[in-house]
Amino acid sequence: MIDLGQKSIVVTGGASGIGAAICAAAYKKGASVGVIDIDGDAALNLCKKLGRRAYCALGDVESESSMNAALETLSLNMPAFNGCVASAGIMPTREPMEEMPLENFKRVLENHINGTFITCKLVGRRMLKSGGGSIVTMSSVLALRPGPVLGYGAGKAAIKNLTQALAVQWGKKNIRVNTICPGWVDTPFIRKQEAAGRDLSPILNMTPLGRMASPSEIANIALFLLSDSSSAMTGSVSVADCGITLAGGYLPYGELPE
Ligand SMILES: NC(=O)c1ccc[n+]([C@@H]2O[C@H](COP(=O)([O-])OP(=O)(O)OC[C@H]3O[C@@H](n4cnc5c(N)ncnc54)[C@H](O)[C@@H]3O)[C@@H](O)[C@H]2O)c1
Repeated sequence: MIDLGQKSIVVTGGASGIGAAICAAAYKKGASVGVIDIDGDAALNLCKKLGRRAYCALGDVESESSMNAALETLSLNMPAFNGCVASAGIMPTREPMEEMPLENFKRVLENHINGTFITCKLVGRRMLKSGGGSIVTMSSVLALRPGPVLGYGAGKAAIKNLTQALAVQWGKKNIRVNTICPGWVDTPFIRKQEAAGRDLSPILNMTPLGRMASPSEIANIALFLLSDSSSAMTGSVSVADCGITLAGGYLPYGELPE
């Protein structure tokens, strides 16, 4: 039985999709929840819905000063951060390599790699002072089995590596760092693509469970990793993909919509 009572958990990208499901699930398990997002209105709305133990802060994970300010704001109500989930992320653009502007490649890498680096650095620094904690990063099955998509998979592979390097650095300092590799998860991230005309059926047909995961299924794994029930785990890679990495060939990514 997972108990997060007395814990304070901060979630980046907490206003939508997987991050929002983690906030809701952690709140339900008794935690105080700090929602950081670049979409301040959505973060505020979620906090209002959750209740009095939910606090929000506008923050851009790509900016150290913005994240510092967001964490300071949360600190007014959350004296220590016992857990953190770095869930903020953006989608890649669709160009083939020979036509891809470097800027588009960098955009995805900077959001994912710099965002995770800055989040882990600033939260980890506070955890070192307060005696430790548990950090969960959000990688992807594309870190394990590359598909044709550029930038996104490279960023997610870097997140996995950074997570494991931090697990080694901070192991004896009582900070655990683990990553989740979701496959396809039914979030606005994915639904926006479907609305823009992308056919997801070839992907779902290749998936052993025949479906996407729900955000709350990913949240359950995050809660376990945040909780003391996973106390022996650090540097671990939790694959939550409805079996899609077992599918043959490269991961079916398909065309991204215009
Ligand atoms: N949905 C999937 O199928 C899937 C699969 C594998 C991995 N992931 C990863 O899971 C994470 C969450 O994805 P999701 O599907 O919930 O997406 P989502 O778009 O629903 O939510 C992402 C959130 O991150 C926020 N965000 C983006 N850039 C930010 C920034 N610079 N600073 C602060 N907040 C920022 C957005 O405002 C949004 O609220 C992402 O890292 C994504 O790459 C998603």
